[in-house]
Amino acid sequence: QQAQIGLIGLGTMGSALALNIAEKGFPIAVYNRTTQVTRDFHQEAGDLAGNVVPTESLEEFVNAIATPRAIILMVPAGTPVDQQIEALEPLLSPEDLVIDAGNADFHDTNRRANTGYKMQFLGMGVSGGEEGARHGPSIMGGGRQADWDRVSDVLNAIAAKAEDGTPCATRMGEEGAGHFVKAVHNGIEYADMQMIAEIYGVMRDGMGLSAAQIGDTFATWNEGPLQSYLVEISGKVAKATDPHGGKPMLDVILDKAGQKGTGRWTAIEAQHLAAPIPVIEAAVMARNVSARLEERRVMQDRFGAAPQGFDIDSTVLEKAMIAGKILCYAQGFTMISAASEKFGWSLPLPEIARVWRAGCIIRSSMLNDMAEALTEDAERNLILAPFFANLIEENIPALRQAVAEGIAKGHPMPALASGLNWFDMMRTARGTANMIQGQRDFFGMHGFERLDGIADAHGPWGA
Ligand code: 6PG
Repeated sequence: QQAQIGLIGLGTMGSALALNIAEKGFPIAVYNRTTQVTRDFHQEAGDLAGNVVPTESLEEFVNAIATPRAIILMVPAGTPVDQQIEALEPLLSPEDLVIDAGNADFHDTNRRANTGYKMQFLGMGVSGGEEGARHGPSIMGGGRQADWDRVSDVLNAIAAKAEDGTPCATRMGEEGAGHFVKAVHNGIEYADMQMIAEIYGVMRDGMGLSAAQIGDTFATWNEGPLQSYLVEISGKVAKATDPHGGKPMLDVILDKAGQKGTGRWTAIEAQHLAAPIPVIEAAVMARNVSARLEERRVMQDRFGAAPQGFDIDSTVLEKAMIAGKILCYAQGFTMISAASEKFGWSLPLPEIARVWRAGCIIRSSMLNDMAEALTEDAERNLILAPFFANLIEENIPALRQAVAEGIAKGHPMPALASGLNWFDMMRTARGTANMIQGQRDFFGMHGFERLDGIADAHGPWGA
């Protein structure tokens, strides 16, 4: 049997994606560096084994796929991808297509797209974790339209479907556009997670609520405007109990966050683009602070942690999170616009919101409204769309109240506070950078523009 597509790398994500493809009726050849992994995978494929062609060498793998071939790589990002491409290239023909479906740094995808391999190349961001890969991920592609079109039937079949039935698989643009959009997705993922963690923190340390009570609150919020996968699973995480001893799971998990780096890449890229994404930056910072556990213990011994007595109603916290979330997404979409311009990608903002509606980690009901607002006007800042402007007006007072209480009582809320600071800066037409310009001119004669149009770019500092 000739397979219609091939996949290399049977780790968690690769296996799940391969089973998804097989289930949708596409015979798939699979290869893994460790042969036993391939054999086990085939054996455990159950009913789907008939659609899986296990192979034990790269040659066998390549020969098992119908030409022109399409080959998905699901290997760790970075050097392993380059090594795999190098090993495959001599075995492939110019019409063949290699698709990197890992969490690549989009700069690497740009480089690979312009390397001039013998075969064709697509970069593809895949979101949704193992469950998504198995039953419907959100797919963000980048590369040539013709290459995308060749595999779009498979991708549409395996992708998550939004409520209106549209598959969450889109070609975002040339080169690394898909991996770039995936990186912003991950930045927002970090921010959404951090804002939830901050609210959890004030509920636990400031209000003295138990993990289960917090879990119930999140479960209730998941029925309202904050409905989202991350709020839903946070509720479940909070309510789970430890099989070893029966304590709440949250009370036995070390408060030290891991990260593979995609959120950090987004924050770094935002700096290069001069695109302010403070909520995401705060979320990356918070993970880094969390990692310094020993230092934090010493600091707590010396200075003490915030006492209880965070005096805010949970309905206010819900509203604060609504505002924080909108501000974060507005920043994320602005960053996408900036990249679109810099890289000449024409990134389709409404399509991006649509592709995030289902399958991915940041899926939420609010993304439906964002897709609509961006469809009306993709150039306008999201918070100026009438629907979101009204929501911001309605919920900013709660965000202000929550952040003010956190600051007054000493409970850290870096992401939520960063969102608010950004908002307050953005709604101030006459900011304070005139002082910066005065300082720059004073010490370095860097010059400034004047409000009154007088053509004198320097101040009288030396006088
Ligand atoms: C997704 C996720 C996924 C990511 C993990 C871990 O969209 O499915 O973004 O791609 O790799 O969530 O990310 P960190 O280790 O950086 O938290």
